[in-house]
Amino acid sequence: MTADLRDRNIIVTGGNSGIGRVACLDFARRGATVSLLCRDSARGKEALKWIRGHGVSGSIILYVADLSSLADTARIARVLAKDNPRIDVLCNNAGGANARRKLTAEGFETTLATNHLSGFLLTQMLIPGLQAAAAANGSARVVFTSSLGHRNSPLDFEDLNLNTGYSTLRAYGRSKLMNLLTARELYRRHGSAGIIASSFHPGAVRTPIWGKGGILAGLLGLVMYPFMRPVEKGAETLIWLASSDESAAREAQGKYFVDCRQADVAAFASDAAGAQLWQLSDQLVAPYREPQPAAQAPQDEATPA
Ligand SMILES: NC(=O)c1ccc[n+]([C@@H]2O[C@H](COP(=O)([O-])OP(=O)(O)OC[C@H]3O[C@@H](n4cnc5c(N)ncnc54)[C@H](OP(=O)(O)O)[C@@H]3O)[C@@H](O)[C@H]2O)c1
Repeated sequence: MTADLRDRNIIVTGGNSGIGRVACLDFARRGATVSLLCRDSARGKEALKWIRGHGVSGSIILYVADLSSLADTARIARVLAKDNPRIDVLCNNAGGANARRKLTAEGFETTLATNHLSGFLLTQMLIPGLQAAAAANGSARVVFTSSLGHRNSPLDFEDLNLNTGYSTLRAYGRSKLMNLLTARELYRRHGSAGIIASSFHPGAVRTPIWGKGGILAGLLGLVMYPFMRPVEKGAETLIWLASSDESAAREAQGKYFVDCRQADVAAFASDAAGAQLWQLSDQLVAPYREPQPAAQAPQDEATPA
């Protein structure tokens, strides 16, 4: 991809590492203004240094938020929305796997919160900026980093939090299915306004993710390491979906891609599941999305009106 991105505003979550970091480098090299979102300020600064060390022409701005927290996601979404009245591309790329089932302080299973609900909330809160870009340029794009792991198991809408039957692969696979379904449903809802959503599987990629999901994921990573692709190859489809020419982007239409080609999805990745997931996710994130009313001063009945 060689297109000039000088007039593009691009947001990448999980931009400090792996696939996201390579994508940030590519966008910044081609002149885009890149908002790099990560959870750890020191790791974010290291990534900035690495990217700038490659000689980039665009500007890169660091944003720090823990995407396992919906309150923190909503906080950073407000900052991003204020700083970026026009958003050309949002890459919902951050993600991970968790060895054990752990609830966040907000009561969500951590993989569900980090890999799905936060990206869902961020996207909803950045819709006005995406719409502004679409009105100005004809389209805006939202790309979700999904996975072949989406085939692992269908969603159980009675138990999104995996109260029963938790396994690392099940939690991860379902979250990646949610990414794919969200992309499709987002396009169904906002495609006519020029917001083109898509999702993709990057392949099995040599990134630090394999070392972050506990011993089993680490061992699996070690066994698969020789067969994995380099991170630059893993980032190709993300970069293509985010920055290919307009007509190619229009083809994306909520679809799922592997190696820059549309790919088949699991039979249970149905439109009905996508619609139901959207509705449920919308309810779950609503308390964080809407500004909380300021605490009322206690009413003192004795105070004269
Ligand atoms: N590598 C593969 O084989 C593969 C295959 C299929 C799909 N994927 C998907 O590709 C995406 C990128 O992963 P990667 O392989 O490039 O691995 P990675 O290098 O570990 O990148 C994951 C990124 O997500 C960030 N992240 C995780 N939890 C977060 C949180 N609570 N708040 C904010 N940021 C958080 C990580 O931050 P830290 O650096 O602080 O951990 C990191 O920047 C993920 O969505 C993953 O599911 C990867």
